[in-house]
Amino acid sequence: MIKKLSIIALTALALSTGGAMAAGGEGHVHDTAFSFEGPFGKFDQNQLQRGLQIYTEVCSACHGLRYVPLRALGDPGGPELAEDQVRAYAAQTFTVYDPELDEDVPAKPVDHFPMSGDPNAPDLSLMAKARAGFHGPYGTGLNQLFRGMGGPEYIVSILTGYTGEEKEEAGTTYYENTAFPGGWIAMAPPLYGEDVEFADGHSNELHHEAEDIASFLMWTAEPKMMARKQAGFIGVLMLTLLTVLLYLTNKAIWAPHKHKEDHTS
Ligand code: HEC
Repeated sequence: MIKKLSIIALTALALSTGGAMAAGGEGHVHDTAFSFEGPFGKFDQNQLQRGLQIYTEVCSACHGLRYVPLRALGDPGGPELAEDQVRAYAAQTFTVYDPELDEDVPAKPVDHFPMSGDPNAPDLSLMAKARAGFHGPYGTGLNQLFRGMGGPEYIVSILTGYTGEEKEEAGTTYYENTAFPGGWIAMAPPLYGEDVEFADGHSNELHHEAEDIASFLMWTAEPKMMARKQAGFIGVLMLTLLTVLLYLTNKAIWAPHKHKEDHTS
């Protein structure tokens, strides 16, 4: 028995130190409160539109969003651009190669956002999910429910985590970043604040811009989040109703037997 217990204890110790070591090289990610977190969270449509603008004006120079169809910009629960706005955005912003005409033509809503232009810049479609934080060996699942997945937090932390230090190695410039695992990233700071002008005059301070683009990238990674939460909520509601009905049925069925002594028929 003691032998068994000590084996279990040793295994647990090995597993936990392994986890701690794996976490050693991670950068610092701070929590950000996003509107879409929590069981009733929703994407903020205006914020998604601002994020789209930042992506278009800044990030798209290097990063693609190849898995996202342009028409999704008009879907419910997303930036919800009007149909003609989606068409205009697609046509004015991107071109796609048409093999029949053998030339580049303006993109249409059925086309996808482009692939990364810079081969070293990863596609950002799924980045907010690929870099989920708050998991790890000690995660209970409750953090994800109430504080979100941590992916958008990671993106905010990267964009605001530059220290200003640079170094050059084998012809590549690296920028010190407190959130990037390893501490040095090959992406020059893409945002400094006041990089874009919003039509509604919304703040374009660095941390606001970072939150806007991070929200937008959460949407590209999970465009159906609103529908999923709604379905989950309806599910819980139905289960609650079913529980109440079962309880009442159960009571009704057993009622005659419970008070048998009272029935003197
Ligand atoms: C000048 C090109 C360029 C621009 C503009 C740019 N990036 Fe990057 N980005 C890169 C490169 C290159 C990497 C790969 C860095 C590395 O792996 O060291 C990268 C990596 C990233 C990563 C991934 C970090 C990881 O965990 O692998 C994120 C997130 C990111 N960029 C977000 C953005 C956002 C958001 C914008 C717009 C605000 C943006 N980038 C603008 C070139 C760019």
